[in-house]
Amino acid sequence: MRCKDTTALVTGGLKGIGLAIANRLAEEGSTVFITDIDKPSEDLNANINYINADVTNELDWKRVAQLIEDERGSLDILVNNAGVDCVGPVQKTSLKNWRRVMSINVDGAFLGVKHCYDILAKASEKRNGGASIVNISSMLSKVGYIDTSGYNASKGAISSFTKAIAVEFASKNISIRSNSVHPGFVHTPLLQQGMQNLVNEGVADSVDVLLDMLSEMTPIGRMAKPNEIANAVLFLASDESSYMVGSELVIDGGWTAR
Ligand SMILES: NC(=O)c1ccc[n+]([C@@H]2O[C@H](COP(=O)([O-])OP(=O)(O)OC[C@H]3O[C@@H](n4cnc5c(N)ncnc54)[C@H](O)[C@@H]3O)[C@@H](O)[C@H]2O)c1
Repeated sequence: MRCKDTTALVTGGLKGIGLAIANRLAEEGSTVFITDIDKPSEDLNANINYINADVTNELDWKRVAQLIEDERGSLDILVNNAGVDCVGPVQKTSLKNWRRVMSINVDGAFLGVKHCYDILAKASEKRNGGASIVNISSMLSKVGYIDTSGYNASKGAISSFTKAIAVEFASKNISIRSNSVHPGFVHTPLLQQGMQNLVNEGVADSVDVLLDMLSEMTPIGRMAKPNEIANAVLFLASDESSYMVGSELVIDGGWTAR
């Protein structure tokens, strides 16, 4: 029960990494809310409270923060996870697509912190480690990759934003910690769809060929499972990481260690 008696919010919690994080936090005693633009399937864990909300919509954020305040009084853990990719050579990337990835990946996290600030501050005094914000960045905030410049830029922005608010809060004695998580390739619907798009463009014969290639390119020889990212988020969300402020936790099977 590493998050006993806490309240958590995970954005984009219906699939992939967000779903694994929501389940892991719930297993460790947190009352978990998730937001998503998709509709939940029937097998969603009954302990998880689903709210239909778009991270790019400020009115949605106000509604979500109010709902959590009404039901729980405060928020201990905010995980800004919702994200999309943006694949293609920079010279062929449309401004519309660039703005879409920035809007979901960057504006979404900013709006989450802005509108959850009051309920996070309310929770901050209750725990030794204070309230905790975990922003899901990527190893691609740290190294370049072919044909993903918009995505890389959005994840770099998340790292800088995380450090800025971490220092801002700590310097003002506000007990809200903020840290970022940097996964390598994780087998999720996002990655599957990204590979399918490349197959559709004729880059490879099948998704499996591309997935095998990504595994071979990773020093550990495989992609991550969503739960391997969720375990790191759990650590940052819990009081166990009480001295971690503005740090970057890289979970990439050795990709950026080369
Ligand atoms: N899969 C990877 O290899 C990988 C690697 C590094 C970082 N990440 C990051 O991890 C996070 C989760 O990725 P994933 O692979 O689990 O993706 P996913 O597509 O499998 O799941 C993302 C979820 O976010 C939701 N979502 C999308 N737009 C939204 C919006 N505007 N508002 C609310 N919800 C929205 C989707 O409906 C979906 O349920 C993203 O930030 C992604 O960039 C993923």
